[in-house]
Amino acid sequence: MHTNAKNVQNITLLAIESSCDDTAASVICNSKILSNIIASQDIHQNYGGVIPELASRAHQKNIVPIVDMALKQANISLDLIDGIAFTQGPGLLGSLLVGSSFAKGLALALNKPLIAVNHLEAHVLSHLIDSPEIPFPYLCLLVSGGHTEIVKVNSPSSMEILGRTLDDAAGEAFDKVAKILGLPYPGGPLIDKYAKGGNPLCYSFSTGKVPNLDFSFSGFKTAVLYFIRDALKKDATFIENNLSNICASVQHTIVSYLVSKLKQAALQTNIKHIAIAGGVSANSELRTQLSTMAISELWTTYIPKLEYCTDNAAMIAIAGYYKYLEKNTVDLSVGTFASFNR
Ligand code: KG4
Ligand code: ZN
Repeated sequence: MHTNAKNVQNITLLAIESSCDDTAASVICNSKILSNIIASQDIHQNYGGVIPELASRAHQKNIVPIVDMALKQANISLDLIDGIAFTQGPGLLGSLLVGSSFAKGLALALNKPLIAVNHLEAHVLSHLIDSPEIPFPYLCLLVSGGHTEIVKVNSPSSMEILGRTLDDAAGEAFDKVAKILGLPYPGGPLIDKYAKGGNPLCYSFSTGKVPNLDFSFSGFKTAVLYFIRDALKKDATFIENNLSNICASVQHTIVSYLVSKLKQAALQTNIKHIAIAGGVSANSELRTQLSTMAISELWTTYIPKLEYCTDNAAMIAIAGYYKYLEKNTVDLSVGTFASFNR
C-alpha cells in the first residue's frame, strides 16, 4: 500500500550519508527507521585504502538509485518528506559534497528544511534507534576508521569528549596491521574472522602508555611491524602458518586496551550506562569483552546491531530527527567540513 495520506503528527525525514566510501540513504518516521539502504564501494579493495577521487565518483553514480530505493522501501513519496538530513562532516570533502549538494538540491526543489548532521555524533546517537529509553548521561566508546573517542552523552545535542586518540584510530590500527599481514582493505573484519580459533595470548604487543582517557596506537602498530619483520627473517611462512594466533593476539591487545580505558572512564564519571559505536563496534571480541565487563562492573551496555555499526544513513536519520525537533536546521549556504572541532 502506498502512503499517500499524511498524518499531521508524523515527522518523516530522508537522510543521506556519503562521508567516506559508502553511499547510504534512510527514511525515518518519528524515531522509527522505515528504510536503511547502503551501497558499499568494493573498488578501494584493490588499492589498500579509500581513494578519495574514486569514492566521490562512485557516490555520484550511486546516490540517485540509493535514495530512490530508500523511498521505495519506506513506501513513501518525496512530497511527504518533512525534511532532508545529510552528513556535513567529518569525512572526505569530495564525498561529502556529493551528498550535501544532492540534499540541498532536494531541499530547494521540495521547499523543505535542511538538517546538517555530524557523522561522529550520529554514530554515538545510533543507539536511540533501538534503545530510545537509554538514560542520559551515557558513555559511548566511538571506534571507527578515523576516530577513537570516549564521549559523555548528556543529551542528543550535548556531548563531551573525555578522551581521544593522539595518533591512529582503533580501526586504522586494525587496518594497518592487516596490511602488514598482506590482507586486503578494510582489514578489521578479516582480523576478526581469522582470530577465531586462535590463541589471544600467543603473542604480546605493547600499547600506548598515554595518560588519562586518551589513546595511542602508533607504537603498537610499529611493534607488530617489527615483530612480523623479524619472524619472517627466520621463517618465510610465519604469517601463513600462524595467522589465527597473530590475529587473535592483535585483536585481544587492541580490544583490551579500549575496554580498560572505558572502564577507567566509567569509574571516573560514575556512569554505568555504557555504549559502543562505529565500525570497530562490530568486532566480536569487543562485544564479548564488553558483555563480560558489564557483569563485573554492573553496567547496562548498549551494543548496536551490526547494520548500525559501520557507516549507514539510519544513524544520520535519527540524529537529524532530534535536530529537527529542536528546529536546528540550516540554510542552503552551509558548508561541509573534513574535520570538526567539537
Ligand atoms: O565507522 P566506519 O564504518 O567508518 C568510519 O567512519 O571510519 O568504520 C570503519 C572501520 C574500519 O577501520 C574497519 O576495519 C573497522 O571499522 N571494522 C572492524 C570490524 N568491522 C569494521 N574492525 C574490527 N573488527 C570488525 N569486525
Ligand atoms: Zn563512520
